[in-house]
Amino acid sequence: MSSINDTFTIGGDLEVRRLGFGAMRITGKGIWGPPADPAQALAVLRRAAELGVDFVDTADSYGPSVSEDLIAQALWSDGGYGKVKVATKAGLTRQGPDEWNPVGRPEYLRQCAEMSLRRLKVDTIDLYQLHRIDPQVPREEQFGVFKELQDEGKIRHFGLSEVSVEEIAAAQEVLPVVTVQNLYNLTTRQSEDVLEHCEAHDIGFIPWFPLASGDLAKPGGPLATAAEHHDATPGQVALAWLLHRSPVVLPIPGTGSVAHLEENVAAGELTLTSEEFDAIDSATAAA
Ligand SMILES: NC(=O)c1ccc[n+]([C@@H]2O[C@H](COP(=O)([O-])OP(=O)(O)OC[C@H]3O[C@@H](n4cnc5c(N)ncnc54)[C@H](OP(=O)(O)O)[C@@H]3O)[C@@H](O)[C@H]2O)c1
Repeated sequence: MSSINDTFTIGGDLEVRRLGFGAMRITGKGIWGPPADPAQALAVLRRAAELGVDFVDTADSYGPSVSEDLIAQALWSDGGYGKVKVATKAGLTRQGPDEWNPVGRPEYLRQCAEMSLRRLKVDTIDLYQLHRIDPQVPREEQFGVFKELQDEGKIRHFGLSEVSVEEIAAAQEVLPVVTVQNLYNLTTRQSEDVLEHCEAHDIGFIPWFPLASGDLAKPGGPLATAAEHHDATPGQVALAWLLHRSPVVLPIPGTGSVAHLEENVAAGELTLTSEEFDAIDSATAAA
């Protein structure tokens, strides 16, 4: 039975509701520059917190800087974020709209951390993720910076993004990996082995692009049938399916719209039957 109050404890001490918010879509087109309507972006963030969302995912590269700045503007008060935990990332540089290039030189990653601390106005980042492992830099050096930042108290927990099981194990040699953020949704499931590894090791699995339900959202598909039965939208069923998939899954649907946010958060109350979950699962496997 899934509920909006379902929680997962990241790294053994950071408890969050499993349905979070992805703050990539509150920037300009191509995740570049300010949003068309900054007041609306701030309203989305504030409404998320009001609805009880307490896990917000962002990155220094969203904008760049724009998403972190908006989060601080909307949610920081009295020296902190209250119940909200902010996860951010480092390691992707931006040269223009939709351009993303990894840079994992240790001094650059450290600089990213210093700037994120400043923009978010905190002494410690709750969850700091390596956005991509830079193939041009020894990975141990990249993980090593996060270990140093953790030892210095500048980050509380460390997570990875777009990695294999082998890469998670390599990072675990350097410091504890408490979350993994990989592309995963109903129709894109090549990270199934990573999700299973996370479940086995109590690592939070943050599926990005959770709403890309593709053909399954079309009328007549298994999502549409379950959606009709629950008086829900196909997108809500896609999120409910993720929540049902494993207790370590922490979906972070992203939107720049208050109406879509409210719809997405309401998906936390939707419970699929095992038959519905299986029907969707096997239809996807066959797709
Ligand atoms: N680690 C990584 O490499 C990585 C990569 C990409 C994203 N992420 C993270 O994952 C989060 C989610 O990924 P995402 O934003 O790419 O994908 P998503 O959440 O699956 O989809 C977002 C898209 O769906 C639309 N949408 C959201 N709610 C909707 C609703 N109820 N009805 C109809 N359309 C809706 C949004 O448009 P509107 O704004 O119009 O609602 C937006 O275009 C991001 O915010 C970011 O934090 C991480």
